[in-house]
Parts: sequence; structure tokens; C-alpha cells
Amino acid sequence: MALVQEQEIAGDGCVSETILELKEATIKFGGLTAVNKVSFVLNRGDLFGLIGPNGAGKTTCFNLITGVYRPTSGDIEFKGKVINGFAPNKIATLGICRTFQNIRLFGALSARENVMVGANLRSKTVMPSSFWLLPPVIRETDEMRAKAEHLLEVVGLKEDMSTRSADLSYGEQRRLEIARAMATDPELILLDEPAAGMNPLEKETLQKVVRRIRDEFSMTVLLIEHDMRFVMGLCERIVVLDHGEEIAQGPPESIRSNPKVIEAYLGEAATH
Ligand SMILES: Nc1ncnc2c1ncn2[C@@H]1O[C@H](COP(=O)(O)OP(=O)(O)O)[C@@H](O)[C@H]1O
Ligand SMILES: [Mg+2]
Repeated sequence: MALVQEQEIAGDGCVSETILELKEATIKFGGLTAVNKVSFVLNRGDLFGLIGPNGAGKTTCFNLITGVYRPTSGDIEFKGKVINGFAPNKIATLGICRTFQNIRLFGALSARENVMVGANLRSKTVMPSSFWLLPPVIRETDEMRAKAEHLLEVVGLKEDMSTRSADLSYGEQRRLEIARAMATDPELILLDEPAAGMNPLEKETLQKVVRRIRDEFSMTVLLIEHDMRFVMGLCERIVVLDHGEEIAQGPPESIRSNPKVIEAYLGEAATH
């Protein structure tokens, strides 16, 4: 285990700090190797894309990083410390949060209450087992309310803070999920297909929100997305998985023209 946080001097002379490192991370489910020796590094402030055809192992990578699964072999390091096998709530309190492929909001609660639930998860007194009891025990301090309102403003929902989340549009609900995740004060946010099912205008709004989160909070963002235009227009580096294996890694220009990537996606198109 590295005692000193790894740092490297970037080309522009700035010190870049490693936030997340996968070192040959592997997980097997019976005979299936869902993620096979995947390695990549995220530095603080990176906007990093994780792409690949359906079943490539993208969500499983998120499940490894967030402690849902323990890697069969390999390591996952957060800020230089191995976190393999840590419980999900422990990993959340270390500063990694996520949104899910399917929306998971409390429909009957207002947008602001949903964000405050996120902030409450930060408090060590609230355990996941009492999650469903949360609404009556939300601690509405002025500080928390102000924070929730600021996050809602960042994701473009300030006008809707009193609206029940179930009454928000689909695109708004997805942005609310991001605000809720941000309320846990993460250093790394994982977004699983945040643009799925969105119309072009909603996607454009979402891109701006993700960029703003990175810029305003120096957030490190790892996102899974199927929409190539969305990923290529937003992420500075991309890793491509296919059948659990990493087939390419680099900036969007190099990914777009990579023959292995084109083949993997053509293969998917042919099976749909
Ligand atoms: N808990 C599990 N048990 C068995 N197989 C799983 C499990 N989770 C994921 N898989 C399999 O791992 C592969 C990768 O899945 P996933 O990571 O969800 O892909 P995607 O890239 O579409 O997000 C798939 O074949 C999936 O069926
Ligand atoms: Mg997935």
C-alpha cells in the first residue's frame, strides 16, 4: 500500500494527484470473467469516460469501485489506499459516490428533500438499514438547506426545489440524482449512463452541468455513456471495454479512429 499519495508532474508543470487507480482489476462470476485485468488512472479533476458495448463490464467496474463487489484479483486504490472489499457505505464516506443506470429517487419527496437525504447519508449516524425511515428524521439545518439549494442551482433545478421529484421531467430527475450524489461531498463521482433516454436538448444541459461540477468543485468524474457524441464532446480521456477487457484508452480523437473500437461497436450493431 502506498504511504505517500502518488503525484506526477503534468506536462504543464502542474502537480496532478491520483484519485483512483484500477490495477488489473478482475472479477469472475462463475465461469464468466466480467472484468478482466482492467487498469486505468484518474487524476483529480479528470472528466473520464468508460464506454463499450452492452455487457462489456462497465457497470461491474462501478460495482467494484463502490464496494458492491470485491475484485477476484487486482487492486482498486482511492487516493493511494487499497479499498478492495470495503463496504459500500465506508467507500461512500471516503468520498466516492455514484448514480445508477435506473433512476432511484424518493418520488414523494421534493427535489430539495431528495438532496438533503443525500447530505444525511454523509452523517455516520444514519445507516442504510434506516434509509426508508429517513424523511421524518431529515435534519433541516440552515447550512444543509443552503447547500441543497446551491446544488440544485448548479444542476439547473433551483426553480423546482419544492416540486415532488416524481413530477419532474425525466431529464430533471437525472440531474436531481447528480445533485443528491454531490450532497455527500464526494471527491469522485461515478455516473452510470446519465444521458440514457434523454433528448438532444436534455443531453446538452447535462453536459454543461457535468462540466460545471468539475470546474466549480474540482470534481473527478467517471462516466459510462453509450452516446458517442456525448462522451466525445465531454470527456478528455476514455477507456473502452469489450467482453470485460480493455481494448483502448486515450483521448477522444484516438478512440474514435481506433480499429478495435470500431469493430467492437460494429459487432454490437450487428447483433441488435
Ligand atoms: N452479479 C452478477 N452475476 C453474474 N453475472 C453478472 C453479474 N453482474 C454482471 N454480470 C455479467 O457481467 C457482464 C457485464 O455486465 P455489466 O457490467 O452490467 O455490463 P455493461 O457494460 O453493459 O454495464 C454481463 O455478462 C453480465 O451479465
Ligand atoms: Mg451497465
